[in-house]
Amino acid sequence: MTAMQWFFSFLKKYRLKLIIALILVTFASSLTIINPYISGIIVDDVIKGGKTDILPKLIIILILTTLVRSIIKYIYLYIFEISSQRMLYTMRDYVYRRFLEEDFSFYNKNRTGDLMSRQTGDMDAIRHFVAWVIYNIYENILLFCFAIIMIFTVDYRLALCMIAVMPLTVLTTSKQLKAIKPAFHNIRKQFSSLNTFVQENVSGNRVVKAFAKEDYEIEKFNKENDGYRDAELNSAKMWRKYVPVFEFLSSSLTFILYLVGGIMVVKGSITMGKLVTVSGYLWMLNNPLRMAGWLANDYQRFVTSVEKIYATIKEDPTIKTPTNPVKQKHFNGEIEFKHVNYRAEDDVILTDINFKVTPGQTVGIIGATGSGKSTLMNLLCRFYDVTDGEISIDGVNVRDLDLYNLRSNIGMAMQDVFLFSDTIEGNIAYGNPNCTFEEVQAAAKVANADAFIVNMPDGYDTIVGERGMGLSGGQKQRISLARALLKNPSIVILDDTTSAVDMETEAQIQSELGALTDRTVFIIAHRISSIKDADLIIVVDDGKILESGNHDSLIEKKGYYYTVFNHQYGEFDHYKRSKQKGGKNNG
Ligand SMILES: Nc1ncnc2c1ncn2[C@@H]1O[C@H](COP(=O)(O)OP(=O)(O)O)[C@@H](O)[C@H]1O
Ligand SMILES: [Mg+2]
Repeated sequence: MTAMQWFFSFLKKYRLKLIIALILVTFASSLTIINPYISGIIVDDVIKGGKTDILPKLIIILILTTLVRSIIKYIYLYIFEISSQRMLYTMRDYVYRRFLEEDFSFYNKNRTGDLMSRQTGDMDAIRHFVAWVIYNIYENILLFCFAIIMIFTVDYRLALCMIAVMPLTVLTTSKQLKAIKPAFHNIRKQFSSLNTFVQENVSGNRVVKAFAKEDYEIEKFNKENDGYRDAELNSAKMWRKYVPVFEFLSSSLTFILYLVGGIMVVKGSITMGKLVTVSGYLWMLNNPLRMAGWLANDYQRFVTSVEKIYATIKEDPTIKTPTNPVKQKHFNGEIEFKHVNYRAEDDVILTDINFKVTPGQTVGIIGATGSGKSTLMNLLCRFYDVTDGEISIDGVNVRDLDLYNLRSNIGMAMQDVFLFSDTIEGNIAYGNPNCTFEEVQAAAKVANADAFIVNMPDGYDTIVGERGMGLSGGQKQRISLARALLKNPSIVILDDTTSAVDMETEAQIQSELGALTDRTVFIIAHRISSIKDADLIIVVDDGKILESGNHDSLIEKKGYYYTVFNHQYGEFDHYKRSKQKGGKNNG
């Protein structure tokens, strides 16, 4: 499908309405023929011929046509406006759904600001086209043709002289269209870039302030702003060149009319009234010529926007539900990784991962930062797909499962906590909005969050700002943990969820979690104390499983785990194996 076909697939639903509207445009345009024609009759028959008795009738016709034309115009403007708004609504909805369907790789690739521009500026260019440009192009072409036809009926020689400027107009319009296309692409690019910059700076505003980098950021912003202004000016410069040409072409019609027409009236080959009629049609020729440049501009703006939006969403997400997913609503939580390899682009991230977890077990995954712990869990949730090997839950390959089903069985507290600007209760209940307040509170208690929440001014109704502003790192982590638990999933993943919580609170959380024996729990950590009691501990280093077992067996083994355990901090980040080997890792 091309970008335009994609656009027309949205327009299709409004086809009938638009056709009716275009018929109305046709009708209204054809009415414009009447007034100049009547003016001619007034000059020839009333003024010169003295038939004053028909004058009132003619005036009434003039008034009536104008009135009817206005009413029709009102109706078709309304249809175009309504259709464009509705079409845009559907399109925006579709694009938004696509955004939500997209996988992690899509969001790694696309900047937020770009995506925002697709949904705002680009959508608006499309709406403008449907609401205004379509009928204007059509109306102007009609007016032009009607005028030419009417002039032909008056006198073919005069008509031919006036048509002579046509090829020049067509040529200029097509040249302009070609010339401004790159300029519009550039405008859209700069606009996205400006948007991205503002979005990043607004959300990263605390970092900017903390480093007192306001001046630096303003300077950078000015560059973006300059870039956008220059892109706009550049396109304006492009089409400004064409404005005088169109202006000249349209004025030349006036010269031609009065020169050729004047001579003909003097020679007596046409009447004065005919000349008045033709000059009444003049604007119908002039107007399209004057408008051609503007409409070409708007058209190109529209095409660029459709192309931009389509390019963003045209590729299907690589991770999606298979056509015939295995129907299984609830999992027991048996998980197996079989020879799993994962590469991102050309980087080898995980190599030959094998382990098996029985339902209800607690698994500790430990290793230094960047060793691949989060990636293991991302593969389990199918945020990315394995390159080789297989991950199965209850014996079913995760790739054969319905994505929605798979993920609704997993409660995940992610490493970088994201909270919505909503109440604390709303944030915790996110995965299960129909739950009772008691359930929210119970989850918060397990996560050791209840105590600090009830101490807040509005308790559970406290609105946490964007991304959870106003809360400490540890508080955010505990809310995110409560959110993961409330879903009541058979698999719980806690990715570094207690890293910002003090040791004592962490121990309390662990004893609460330990009581949940009916689910499989993964705890990712780099502090041994966080996972010491796990049934299975997996030590990850540089994308490989180095050793695994429970705490006692790993200590007995006297390997990497043992070394780190005996080290002052018991933290994997403070003791890298490669350091010991003199390898490349840095802290
Ligand atoms: N989608 C990806 N594309 C490229 N590199 C990735 C991707 N995901 C993870 N990585 C890289 O893989 C390595 C492991 O990352 P991660 O699993 O987040 O480590 P950990 O959670 O153990 O700190 C890191 O070097 C990271 O940069
Ligand atoms: Mg991680």
